[in-house]
Amino acid sequence: MHLSSHVQPMSQFEHISVRPLSGALGAEVSRVDLSEPIPDKVFAEILSAFHTHLVLFFRAQTLTRDHLKAFSRRFGPLFRQPNVEALAGDPDVVAVLKEANETGISTFGGTWHSDLSYLEAPPMGSVLYAVEVPPHGGDTIWANQYLAYEALSDGFKKMLDGLACVQVGAPHGVAHAPPADLAVSRSIRLVRGDPEADRERLHPTVRTHPETGRKALFVNSVYSLRFEDMSAEESAPLLRYLFDHATRPEFCFRFSWGRGDLAVWDNRCTQHLAVNDYDGFRRLMYRTAVAGDRPR
Ligand code: SIN
Repeated sequence: MHLSSHVQPMSQFEHISVRPLSGALGAEVSRVDLSEPIPDKVFAEILSAFHTHLVLFFRAQTLTRDHLKAFSRRFGPLFRQPNVEALAGDPDVVAVLKEANETGISTFGGTWHSDLSYLEAPPMGSVLYAVEVPPHGGDTIWANQYLAYEALSDGFKKMLDGLACVQVGAPHGVAHAPPADLAVSRSIRLVRGDPEADRERLHPTVRTHPETGRKALFVNSVYSLRFEDMSAEESAPLLRYLFDHATRPEFCFRFSWGRGDLAVWDNRCTQHLAVNDYDGFRRLMYRTAVAGDRPR
């Protein structure tokens, strides 16, 4: 099997420096201070790097929530997340927090997913800013869904190209909601019992990125329930194969956060997972999201 990577060894722009961090995805951007307004010509380079590397990291930034929102808005209108309570008085920002004494529980985003893929128009991107990080652990992993698609055989691709997949907001709805007494972090308030999240939405199994024109796998283990006109049981073996395939190590990059680091990622062609390995330490991230369009 041939894996085609489109990552350049080193991409140098006029206004920013971009250093790829893996063969799959992810690049560190330097020579940018996100607390300053970003001129259009600089943002054009950031956007170009975003489309090439899918996740961009800006190290050791000193940002207020207003800076975070201003940077996020450069990518498009802000998106308010319906599945989690935002900060009081700041509805566009979510605090992803787990306290040191919250041990033996799950963490927000701890299963592979693409953000809110069950919505008619899922957020196109998300931004995460590290306010307080554990001394070790608490990494985030992303997987490149272009590479996952491109690594499949031609016959399999052809079958998936015509297949729609039913997505539901299982953890946030009524029908499939986890038990009310499930131990989850009390520091982040997930929305539960939202009947809207039970609505089954059909999205393509393979979506075409509106900016790059590349095809990406668009199923994930949190929200993808079954294929169109098939039962969940019939769909399960194929979905399980795709979930495993989509997150193979060679499609992934794992990032270790430092205080002040910011990541922005493209939900249209990646999945991500927060690693829950930092019991006994506090981790606080501020998170925004950017509105997207209907997958096609
Ligand atoms: C998420 O956005 O799913 C959580 C990511 C993280 O906290 O690392």
